[in-house]
Amino acid sequence: MPANDHTTVAVVGVGAVGSTTAFSLVTHGVASELILVDVDEARATGEAMDLNHGAYFAPPVDVRTGDYEDCWDADVVVVTAGASQQDGETRLDLLERNADIFEEMIPAITEGMADDGVLLVVTNPVDVLTQLTWELSELPAEQVIGSGTTLDTSRFRHVLGERCDVDANHIHGYVVGEHGDSEVPLWSSTTVAGLPVDDYLAQHGEPFAEGEKADIAETVRNAAYEVIDRKGATNYAIALAATDIVEAVVRDEEVVLPVSTRMTGQYGLEDVFLSLPCVLDRGGVREVIEPTLSASERDALEESAAVLRESRAALEE
Ligand code: NAD
Ligand code: LAC
Repeated sequence: MPANDHTTVAVVGVGAVGSTTAFSLVTHGVASELILVDVDEARATGEAMDLNHGAYFAPPVDVRTGDYEDCWDADVVVVTAGASQQDGETRLDLLERNADIFEEMIPAITEGMADDGVLLVVTNPVDVLTQLTWELSELPAEQVIGSGTTLDTSRFRHVLGERCDVDANHIHGYVVGEHGDSEVPLWSSTTVAGLPVDDYLAQHGEPFAEGEKADIAETVRNAAYEVIDRKGATNYAIALAATDIVEAVVRDEEVVLPVSTRMTGQYGLEDVFLSLPCVLDRGGVREVIEPTLSASERDALEESAAVLRESRAALEE
């Protein structure tokens, strides 16, 4: 059940990702009021009707449609509106199309938003669009969150869980940097049952083979392409990730999730949004954590930041 008597969450864009996120928010009982917004008003109405018809089987929630103004009183606004990758496109290829949408949409969503409202950006390329959202919204940076590498981290834990024969929830390791092709898996701090993952596997007589870590990193990096190739979109895993982030905020959970946030000197990085493990509470990002990095992880993170900085700069040209 919601932490407060009345918790309002708005989902803007109810295509594959937004509608699945709405379903997940309903089944997890995260909000007492859920507002669906889409330029395709008929679609939003249909999704709201369908979700309300499940009332008998789910925690109580009032699902209704609205417009950007209806987001002003929301505790969290989840933005999934915009174009998605077609076969062969990278996330960064979507930037210009989705930036045009955001330049109109974000000021309309945020101009009357409550002081403590939090925006969660999911639309790709999520890191650059989270930065753009922050710039357009004039909200404090901690209240503008990108879903970032929460999804990649879940994929990493899933693949490693299968390799180690251990539940993914008990693999502790993060993917950081860009949610995209330059993402960085942090092997040096990944543990299982308190042991570095290499030691865990060695102890079980199944050490990593030469090149296996690189193969796992590639599998994780390419996961979305593989899914999009087969079903045209990814929606379930991101919906669960977004639900976890919304829950962390509205329930003031103080959980650690690798969301995209503004760098303010971490590892010497500034003026770029990317993912590092963050403590999330009702105010959004309470704290950005700096895991100990190996030299190669640090180089890779700097390269990832450079890719994102260049993309943000290219928008101005
Ligand atoms: P989709 O095409 O199914 O849905 C997009 C929806 O946005 C449509 O219903 C469309 O009508 C709506 N929309 C477009 N412009 C709008 C506006 N100005 N206001 C309100 N609604 C608007 O796409 P999808 O598969 O749901 O993907 C949505 C976005 O999420 C894409 O950018 C995709 O790349 C991204 N995504 C991100 C992650 C992540 O981990 N961050 C994961 C999966 C997908
Ligand atoms: C993902 C999207 C496409 O599933 O960003 O990773």
